[in-house]
Amino acid sequence: MTAAAIAPPPADLPTDALRRRLDDPATQLAVIERAPDGRRDEHIAAMVANTPFRRLVGPSDAIERGLRRHGADTEALTEIAGLLQLFSTLAACREMDVLIEWQTRRQCPLFHVDAHPLRLLCAYLGPGLEYLDEADADRDALGRGGRAPGRDPVCRGGPQTVRRVAHQAVALFKGTGWPGNAGRGLVHRSPPTSPRCPRLVLRIDVRQ
Ligand SMILES: [Fe+2]
Repeated sequence: MTAAAIAPPPADLPTDALRRRLDDPATQLAVIERAPDGRRDEHIAAMVANTPFRRLVGPSDAIERGLRRHGADTEALTEIAGLLQLFSTLAACREMDVLIEWQTRRQCPLFHVDAHPLRLLCAYLGPGLEYLDEADADRDALGRGGRAPGRDPVCRGGPQTVRRVAHQAVALFKGTGWPGNAGRGLVHRSPPTSPRCPRLVLRIDVRQ
């Protein structure tokens, strides 16, 4: 299937505004809202369907070469290369660890905080990341969560306070490894996912 061009391209990502936002110690999450575009996910899904793969590691030029080898078309390459450039700048890293995959089960059902400095997530299809605002999160309860909906003690405000990143929006969130962020980091979990409700996810991390 040949998909039409993506609009808008990610070339105008607001890097400076995002950097200022992430430089604020109170900020744990920055989201680039984008209107869902069915063509955007088509290009990514076509690439994964053509040559199934999960991870690419290295500097952005090596990852882009890998994407071409895996059949990325111009639109998919433009989309992901733009996000690689953005992430590399914001995380001040050269080498990245990129995962692109279909997920058919919920990866991390309990609220938790990650140890990475910064992570980029975009769900091209399926629900986006779930998270709590600081006022709604009981950090002392991290690691003591229950699996039943509404019973996770980390979520002190109840299930109605769980927030979700829109699909195709780009989430950039801090872990405890962000400079000066020990004891903080976004409190988050994976959204419900199943073979009937799969997610097509891009994840970019700093290569460890
Ligand atoms: Fe996580």
